[in-house]
Amino acid sequence: MAWSPQSWRSKPICQVPVYPDAAALEAVETRLKRHPPLVFAGEARNLKAGLAQVTEGKAFLLQGGDCAESFAEFHPDNIRDTFRVLLQMAVVLTFAAGMPVVKVGRIAGQFAKPRSDDFETRGGVTLPSYRGDNINGIEFTPQSRTPDPRRLMEAYAQAAATLNLLRAFATGGYADLHNVHRWMLGFIADSPAGEQYKGLAQRISEALDFMAACGVTSASVPQLRSTDFYTSHEALFLGFEQAMTRVDSTSGDWYDTSAHMLWIGDRTRQLDGAHVEFCRGIRNPLGLKCGPGLSEDELVRLLGALNPENKPGRLTLICRFGADKVAEKLPRLIRAVEREGAKVVWSCDPMHGNTVKSGTGYKTRPFDRILKETKTFFDVHRAEGTHAGGVHFEMTGQNVTECLGGAQAIVEEDLRKRYHTHCDPRLNASQVLELAFLMAENLREERMKVAGLAASA
Ligand code: TRP
Ligand code: MN
Repeated sequence: MAWSPQSWRSKPICQVPVYPDAAALEAVETRLKRHPPLVFAGEARNLKAGLAQVTEGKAFLLQGGDCAESFAEFHPDNIRDTFRVLLQMAVVLTFAAGMPVVKVGRIAGQFAKPRSDDFETRGGVTLPSYRGDNINGIEFTPQSRTPDPRRLMEAYAQAAATLNLLRAFATGGYADLHNVHRWMLGFIADSPAGEQYKGLAQRISEALDFMAACGVTSASVPQLRSTDFYTSHEALFLGFEQAMTRVDSTSGDWYDTSAHMLWIGDRTRQLDGAHVEFCRGIRNPLGLKCGPGLSEDELVRLLGALNPENKPGRLTLICRFGADKVAEKLPRLIRAVEREGAKVVWSCDPMHGNTVKSGTGYKTRPFDRILKETKTFFDVHRAEGTHAGGVHFEMTGQNVTECLGGAQAIVEEDLRKRYHTHCDPRLNASQVLELAFLMAENLREERMKVAGLAASA
């Protein structure tokens, strides 16, 4: 029962890379232990407080970013563009929901990937699968596919530099609400579906003008010119997470200082497994990915293991069932959680249950199915009387062609044009903003219902 940062090492573990030189890996982990924390425990507590608000139906969670960050795509423009799109979505959602939006990036550490097979075979050659740039290389050669511990140092350095830029953006003036709204007007002018969103943008413009007329401006109110932006990634490669886990001097508690929030994947959530063991002992807010294979009983036991004191904000259930399964699976889990009186954030990941292979051989996701899962998620919560608390997207600020459909009507032949992902297909800037506008309608309905007003008002 006793927990320590290394107690996971005596538990069964899935998804572990095999390093040829165990001593070299250990040496790197020892070095990492002396590297500064990437985040401060107090920030993780602030995020937990924000998520506790979501639990109570008073805030909304927006989480998004790359499926896998890569060394090749590391560039300030990419960081900026992802941050920018997330903020644009946040403005729309804040306005529509009439509540604060808690902003969390899958960024500054989202490298490691679980794989369905340990090995990949091409043309008769079998090599270890690619597991993320912090572990091995994507190139299909024996050298590149061999796990190399030096990659963990490079991942740390990239995460530190990324976080440094994000902090500057969040507080240095770039995230000013007026700025973000101006980008939004630009998006609407350029989007084929822009007409549809004009009304909402117009109302935001009027709200800002009204506030300015009352003396509420970025100059007078600091909240308008900065924002809180948090980081998250899957707690998959536990050697790295352990090295970043430190005792917080303020509270005396253990925090994993590699990110504000960590989540447990659908493939590594075994109750007696290493990943649950590691995560139960850190005080960061946690996510738990819930796939179609998760039973009510299992979920209840996981709630007990990961949040025994039932603290609101500690646990976010990130549901990824697929557009055709969500209506059947989600109500059962909601009822089990309600029976337990467990306090959780319900978040919708409409990406991972909707991956298909295109006729042209690409792994892709149809926009319509992503939208359908999101909508159904809201509908189910409305029917159950619970709060549809948030969303979790794989997205980028770049104009990639990885997911089908949307207002740009990306078709199968387009996929090859700008298919840059190192793992799963991401929504591009335009697709994900469209989703934000479409969600805004649902949030508005929820708000009207709470206020006892007609949804059409
Ligand atoms: N500080 C507020 C918030 O983060 C308002 C705000 C400032 C904001 N800049 C923003 C909201 C950018 C969304 C996006 O909610
Ligand atoms: Mn993914």
